[in-house]
Amino acid sequence: MEIRGRDPCAEEDLLSKKMRKALESRKSRGLVRQLTLEQSSCLENDFGSNDYLGLARSEMLRGTASKILERYQCVNGSTGSRLVTGNSQLAEDVEELAAKFHNSESAVLFNSGFNANHGLLGCLASKDDAILWDERCHASSREGTRVTNSSHVKAFRHNDLDSLHKELTAALERVTGAVIIVVESLYSMDGDLVPLKRLFKRIEFGGRRVSVVIDEAHTVGLYGGNGSGYVCERGFENHPNLLARVVSLGKAFGCHGGFVLGSRLLRDYLLNYARPLIFSSALPKSSLATILGAYEAMDSTEIREKRARVFTLSEYLRSEIDASPVVRSLVMTPMGTTNICSLAVVGAEFCVWVADQLALKGFRVMAVRPPTVSPGTERIRITVHSHNVARSIRELVRCLEEIILTADDGAVLPSAAKL
Ligand SMILES: Cc1ncc(COP(=O)(O)O)c(C=O)c1O
Repeated sequence: MEIRGRDPCAEEDLLSKKMRKALESRKSRGLVRQLTLEQSSCLENDFGSNDYLGLARSEMLRGTASKILERYQCVNGSTGSRLVTGNSQLAEDVEELAAKFHNSESAVLFNSGFNANHGLLGCLASKDDAILWDERCHASSREGTRVTNSSHVKAFRHNDLDSLHKELTAALERVTGAVIIVVESLYSMDGDLVPLKRLFKRIEFGGRRVSVVIDEAHTVGLYGGNGSGYVCERGFENHPNLLARVVSLGKAFGCHGGFVLGSRLLRDYLLNYARPLIFSSALPKSSLATILGAYEAMDSTEIREKRARVFTLSEYLRSEIDASPVVRSLVMTPMGTTNICSLAVVGAEFCVWVADQLALKGFRVMAVRPPTVSPGTERIRITVHSHNVARSIRELVRCLEEIILTADDGAVLPSAAKL
């Protein structure tokens, strides 16, 4: 087959011109994103991934998954969407186990946590319903609110129950239908937890018109004693205002996929209306077997110990940060109890530079920039895992302090420290 090369002198088509301009604009602001390969093979220095329990790299899980595949004797590809030819006993068993594990009436498996949020929020509301979302909710929830039929979609200030109360009062007056409130149990870019008890109390006045959706992407696997999540930990899984929980399997579970947990009615509804579920091939059996294996592992002594270790090491990270006035001054949200800590390193280019400097020393952290977070709130996000060690945490904080102190661009620091 003859492949004809592009004529370098030919004028670019309009869309190519637009794409180039958009990328150049991002580049000029230090915001362009590109793929990189993992540079450090030292697991102890992984402070960037969401593989909190090391399950993504677990030989044990790989072994369990292949035994499960043998047990179910199935081909790998799903061959179609769940509603066409892609359903299987394995998929149904995975959902049943997940529902039981999270103490939910039912679970529906999506191809990712992103799809679960997008599918759920995209199909729940009609024109006369409202959606109120915490301004720091993940892009997947926001995408869902972009395709909704709701005529009233508003953000409230992050974890601010007065702001939520105000928006809820306005929404109940404005629409005749239901009001859906969307929050996360642990905000992945800030590391703070939702004030669940106070939230449910504060929305009581809306009665049965108010339904809450909680994205548990970063708490499943870690919270709830056995990893069932923060909602279970606080005992709210049967709260009358809780409509659904969203689970991502790509974080502490070390797999891929997502669940919406809720009533059987909700499950039937999603199977009929959630477009990412209906119009996409289901997950392959290898993924399903890995998910089943990960759920089976959640109650094992090994994972219990790893879970406890994440919290002990997170505490250690906080004490190390506390002992360094320079690093402590960058902490964005008052240090809580979670395994996520964000440090204000303002200025996209500076933030990437700091992360690169840490990478040169073998540490993997995330430089988070707009549009993931709003301009002026760029940050270094540190996540703690069971495979970190006290020495690597100590070293990380020490290196960070040194990098910040010796940074050329002294102008960035004062504003960063003020945040
Ligand atoms: C809070 C939150 N919700 C949902 C998702 C999407 O989950 P997944 O990676 O499984 O698509 C993420 C992923 O980063 C997340 O952080």
